[in-house]
Amino acid sequence: MSLSPSPETKLTAERIGMVFKRDGNSTNVLRDINLTVGRGEFLCVLGPSGCGKSTLLNTMAGFLSPTSGEIRIDGEAVRGPDPRRIFVFQERGVFPWLTVEGNIGFGLFKLSRAEREQRIAHYVQLVGLEGFQKAYPAELSGGMKQRLEVARALAVNPDMLFLDEPFGALDSITRLTMRRELLRIWEAEKNTIIFVTHDIDEAVQLADRVAVMSDRPATIQQIVEIDIAHPRDIGSARYLELRHGIFDQLGLAHKV
Ligand SMILES: Nc1ncnc2c1ncn2[C@@H]1O[C@H](COP(=O)(O)OP(=O)(O)O)[C@@H](O)[C@H]1O
Ligand SMILES: [Mg+2]
Repeated sequence: MSLSPSPETKLTAERIGMVFKRDGNSTNVLRDINLTVGRGEFLCVLGPSGCGKSTLLNTMAGFLSPTSGEIRIDGEAVRGPDPRRIFVFQERGVFPWLTVEGNIGFGLFKLSRAEREQRIAHYVQLVGLEGFQKAYPAELSGGMKQRLEVARALAVNPDMLFLDEPFGALDSITRLTMRRELLRIWEAEKNTIIFVTHDIDEAVQLADRVAVMSDRPATIQQIVEIDIAHPRDIGSARYLELRHGIFDQLGLAHKV
């Protein structure tokens, strides 16, 4: 795949600020965030817990209105969520009253029955939920529920995917498999992905560019271009160099 960023702009965030007011107290969460995401780009937003990553992602997806500034997608100001853009939440998600099949097939009402069944079977297999098609979310483990949510999001082949720490609850082996699958799907479908994580390795493994956020009130400290083709060798000198650079940027030592 090509490493050059797409020349076409998909999303811009201009001078985004967010202040939450509650009980007379105000929390200044985001300050002067400026960002441009190219069509088909895989952007990771990386930062410590509580810095405002979910808040930023929610403003980009249209679930929250920023206190100041504007988000534009395809040149149009974002006024609310849009079914062409799918959001995968950190902890939330699947419909408890629908089975695994029902959840994955939920957004596929426009397809014929045969196409829908085929699409469901594909994504059931992709996320390793074979044998659980008829199970309800209450019968699944936390990791399985999270895989189900990712499958449901991918099955509708959205134009943009907003992913908020989607693999956080998974064990490290499943997490690696899911990253690989997400990359495979992204390379095939060419959707624009904005992926929030607090995991430096996850960001360096996945992203075209990593937007590194500062502590609150958060701004984007630096954008790091990950100029390594997929599949990435996580032992390569370049990988380690980029990873160390981000550690430094976050003020962390390389040793524990
Ligand atoms: N609706 C809200 N009202 C008040 N404070 C909020 C709200 N949502 C988030 N915050 C605060 O904003 C900060 C950033 O939260 P969040 O965006 O969830 O961080 P992250 O996703 O990086 O962990 C936190 O201090 C959180 O308590
Ligand atoms: Mg969060």
